[in-house]
Amino acid sequence: MREKWWHRLVGYQIYPKSFQDSNSDGIGDIPGIIRRLDLLQELGVNMLWLCPVYKSPMMDHGYDISDYTKIDPMFGSREDLKRLIREANERGMTVLMDLVINHTSDQHPWFQEARKDPEGKYGKYYVIRKGSKDTPPNNWRSLFGGSAWERMGESDYYYLHLFTVGQPDLNWENEELREELYRMVNDWLELGIGGFRIDAISHIKKDFSYRNLPADGPDGLHAGMRWFRNVEGIETFLNELKQRTFQKYDCFTLAEVDDIPEDRLNAYIGEDGYYCSVFDFCHCFHNQQDGVWKGRWKEMLADIRDRVFARQAEMEGKGFFCNYQENHDMIRVPDRFLPKEKQNFYSLSMLPVLYFYLAGIPMLYQGQEIGMTGYPRERIEEYADLATYNNYQGYLLDGMSEKEALDKINATSRENARTPMQWSSEAFGGFSDVEPWFPIHPDYEVCNVEAQRMPGSLREFFRKVVALRRNGTYEDTWIYGSFCPREQESRQLWGFERRREGQRLAVLVNFSDEPAVTAKPWNIRKVLLDNYEARETAARGEGCGVVVLQPWQALVLELELDHELHSFK
Ligand code: BGC
Repeated sequence: MREKWWHRLVGYQIYPKSFQDSNSDGIGDIPGIIRRLDLLQELGVNMLWLCPVYKSPMMDHGYDISDYTKIDPMFGSREDLKRLIREANERGMTVLMDLVINHTSDQHPWFQEARKDPEGKYGKYYVIRKGSKDTPPNNWRSLFGGSAWERMGESDYYYLHLFTVGQPDLNWENEELREELYRMVNDWLELGIGGFRIDAISHIKKDFSYRNLPADGPDGLHAGMRWFRNVEGIETFLNELKQRTFQKYDCFTLAEVDDIPEDRLNAYIGEDGYYCSVFDFCHCFHNQQDGVWKGRWKEMLADIRDRVFARQAEMEGKGFFCNYQENHDMIRVPDRFLPKEKQNFYSLSMLPVLYFYLAGIPMLYQGQEIGMTGYPRERIEEYADLATYNNYQGYLLDGMSEKEALDKINATSRENARTPMQWSSEAFGGFSDVEPWFPIHPDYEVCNVEAQRMPGSLREFFRKVVALRRNGTYEDTWIYGSFCPREQESRQLWGFERRREGQRLAVLVNFSDEPAVTAKPWNIRKVLLDNYEARETAARGEGCGVVVLQPWQALVLELELDHELHSFK
């Protein structure tokens, strides 16, 4: 595999609205991010992904862009962004922007023109079809609930919106539109960003038959995914996009694409793939509070392990997934993977060890490093996210009571991950000096960055996790080493090795609240990381033998070489 500069990235995702306010309007902004760069450097990450900061009416918190060329004044200016890029670079970090090109906002001037003349130049920029007075062109359901079509005034025309009604889908079949998008992408790359996280890109191609499908819910609609996700023919667009933009800048591209079949992984993220990397989503619909896993967190973690390991094997030698546990679209990982009463330093600190040393690019999400969690709201109106609100309506339609629907929202809403960042125990957690746009978690007085800048804290443990991932003695094995699962017969251990010439590194985690013993002996040369290091565990040592692990114990190890590996030398 050819080495690339971006193989060494360790990312940190920023949700700008909730990161740091600098101008006392209760909304996070770019100067606020600059103010916190030293702390990010201290954490050890070297790539920052910013969720969208373009001009937007914020119906979907920035994923609805009304001007691709401008920074929304709520976040600052183009000058602020340039300064952020410069100051991040000076600290060894590169900045990724979010690229939202499946749809725009309905406030975008293109769409405003399309409304006036659906058959005109700008009408052709969007997916617009004729229905009839009360009947949309088909019964596809939007990914955020309700019909995916919206009638244009009193006309027979409907526009497609796979996401909220304020996010009309762009018509990628139109070359003129594609040219406009490529120009815009190149303009941002000229500014010196390191690349893009690419939003919802698997939806840019639609199946043209636009037929009605059998209803799959009480709303009479059909989820229709296969007609608008990774549709045959999308490859042409993806190749063109890459060649006309990203490739010219050798930038890093990280795409939001799920369910890529194994036989297409190479086309997507192989050496000449459309992107550098895609997120590995295989764990993300697991939530112990919800649905099939209700309360069964041990079985769930074992299932996640099996999926992650299978995905690692599929990817071996092909390319790089981006491994993550949290983002702005899902509840915080402690709440997803662990019951509240099981959340403690040991259980929270074993979580990053589960994924940081897998093959791929590791990514953190703001607040993950201090163990931020969600908190239950008492009224649905306390949520600001339209998708959350639509889900709530859907649950009522499914027959749930208001209380049941709200409980489910509290257990699953992505807005739980969007509460303001908790920097200190000052008023509003140091995020702002006025009431934030979205209420801060009441636990900020104890759970905050300032309180955790000391030995023994969760954040300090995250710092060690990152430092070990980037440690020059081991980094090449983490990046290029082969992946070998271990201890798979156990339902409470997460064990694997990463091997490369002359080096065997391993991860061994007990994801359970009960002690565990390995089935096989492990020949340990050195313990590189241990979340129990501050305690006398006597549970393991260096040398050869079975390993006894404490509840939630997470170990990263260097192993003795066996004969086979010696021969590589
Ligand atoms: C983003 C979401 C957003 C959606 C529509 C996604 O996948 O991550 O936050 O709502 O795209 O743009």
